[in-house]
Amino acid sequence: MKEHSQKAETKKKVHIQTYGCQMNEYDTNKMLEVLRHENYSQTDCQTEADLIILNTCSIREKAENKVYSELGRLRELKSVKPDLKIGVGGCVAQQEGKDILRRANNVDFVFGTDNLFELPKILRRVAGRKKISMTERHARQKVRNFIPDYTFLQSKTFGVKAQIAITKGCNNHCSFCVVPFTRGVEVSREPEHIISEARRLVAAGTREICLLGQNVNSYKANGTDFVELLRLLDEIENLERLRFISPHPKDFHSELAEAFITLPSLCEQMHLPLQSGSDRILRRMRRWYTMETFYEKVALLRDRIPHATLSTDLIVGFPGETDEEFEMTMEAVRNVRFDLIYSFKYSARPGTRAAEYPEHLPENVKSERLKRLLETQAKIIKEKNAALTGSFQEVLIEGKHHRKENTATGRTRGYHSVAIKDCRIKAGELLQVHITGANPNSLIAEPLYTSTVSG
Ligand code: 5AD
Ligand code: SF4
Repeated sequence: MKEHSQKAETKKKVHIQTYGCQMNEYDTNKMLEVLRHENYSQTDCQTEADLIILNTCSIREKAENKVYSELGRLRELKSVKPDLKIGVGGCVAQQEGKDILRRANNVDFVFGTDNLFELPKILRRVAGRKKISMTERHARQKVRNFIPDYTFLQSKTFGVKAQIAITKGCNNHCSFCVVPFTRGVEVSREPEHIISEARRLVAAGTREICLLGQNVNSYKANGTDFVELLRLLDEIENLERLRFISPHPKDFHSELAEAFITLPSLCEQMHLPLQSGSDRILRRMRRWYTMETFYEKVALLRDRIPHATLSTDLIVGFPGETDEEFEMTMEAVRNVRFDLIYSFKYSARPGTRAAEYPEHLPENVKSERLKRLLETQAKIIKEKNAALTGSFQEVLIEGKHHRKENTATGRTRGYHSVAIKDCRIKAGELLQVHITGANPNSLIAEPLYTSTVSG
């Protein structure tokens, strides 16, 4: 596709504030690319911007509230800069649409999760001081599983690590989750589009790709399933590392576990969201596995790759969760010994089944449970980090440490963050390191071969 011609007028500035998950970060990058073709450059400074977009998240109430408090703060800026345009995109926009325009009168436009490619059209209309809300799903998508192809956009924002969305939406309807409402039904992108986006990124210097999807391992398009897609991507020369997030345990099977052995670029690391250690709560969450099957899934991976790292998501204080059921989650955490947990207090989301369940728990009970869970996990991490001290690891260098001189940062194949002393290796290179110590959230290392390359 031909590059759009640069427009003659002076460049405008856009500031995008991103809330929530990797999918939103991914969408923000795409918005920036769309806007770059409209003669916008990115700014980190809100006061410099001609256009401010909030890319919002509604997964928990707290995330949603942040959006309205930010819009409140922006009122002052808009009063001194009346030409400033403010837009709201992402999941809150998808769910609330026009109501946002009513609730926050400084907002010029609202656009849904499927409408980011319509930003140029929206901006032209708001230039005439019109207020716009555009949250319709793409009409063809409803009929033919159509997913707009992203590949025509020339990526300029990606570096050593990049993400590629391979599916969008989710068909699972876990009872607590708002995502199926904000992102719609699951649609898989054409494998050819994914492969060509990956090739283009690797040619531009990307060494690690993380595939994104709400239920990433249920990917299937044109007869290509998830494992086959991994195999095709693994063949790309100079793509050193491949990861994916988030898989659903119900769709993790031996064929995928085998791929961790057969595909050299597939990193020995997996995120496997458990949510709860109690079978009764898992049933009420509509997760479609039991603790017994979850342990079997963990074994599928660890029997093949004992040192594989495993992370998870956990919700505490789901409606009706008893003390005993919470203890089951604690037991699961002690048994599996995850390398990383993301834990959340249950937050009732309008429109979801669980929001209608009885026995919502008081905030203080949820907070207490979360605190205990985090304390338990902190002990496990301390022990796991101590066990890694003295080991040798391959690190993909991501850049200079932002505080420490002569120190580089990167990640191991297991996704541990590492600070490497006396290292001036360039971003994008792989380096063998010796782990010499650990902080709670990162490892400390020395390069095995002192670099002669200046950074
Ligand atoms: N309350 C708390 N946590 C939630 N998550 C999703 N919905 C909710 C909710 N209503 C968590 C789940 C999910 C992660 C992305 O966010 O653990 O895996
Ligand atoms: Fe939400 Fe469940 Fe889908 Fe994940 S799998 S996005 S938790 S509905």
